[in-house]
Amino acid sequence: MVAIGSDHAGYEYKEQLKELLGELKLPFKDFGPDTAESTDYPDWAHKVARSVSSGECERGILVCGTGIGMAIVANKHKGVRAASCESVTAARLARRHNDANVLTIGARLTGWEAVVDIVKTFFSEPFEGGRHERRVQKIHTLTSL
Ligand code: RB5
Repeated sequence: MVAIGSDHAGYEYKEQLKELLGELKLPFKDFGPDTAESTDYPDWAHKVARSVSSGECERGILVCGTGIGMAIVANKHKGVRAASCESVTAARLARRHNDANVLTIGARLTGWEAVVDIVKTFFSEPFEGGRHERRVQKIHTLTSL
């Protein structure tokens, strides 16, 4: 299950994402909002990240103006590895090297056509494991500091 959420800046893309995820046969849960009214991105990022952290959803997609605020918030949650991706290359490496489980998108920075390719990449690229496994483990091990 893919958790999705946005703020007002990302609302339109979130609605379009539902169609795209449907085409990709990826079940999703929309955590809101239900309108494009001005709203605070942390409220939605916390909901989506909580669902990934708890295991309710395996992956998440968050959309705001830049993708940055959503990533900052989502990465506060245990087990969440959110990556703001503006390119297919970033999405590929976020999956292959960082095992990213939440994709954040900047609707004001990335055109929809690119977003389609970024999303497809994010859900098709595997985690490489190997040396990256150790590094990913260290992300969540604060005692290694
Ligand atoms: C909203 O204007 C904007 O600040 C927000 O969508 C996001 O870009 C924050 O990181």
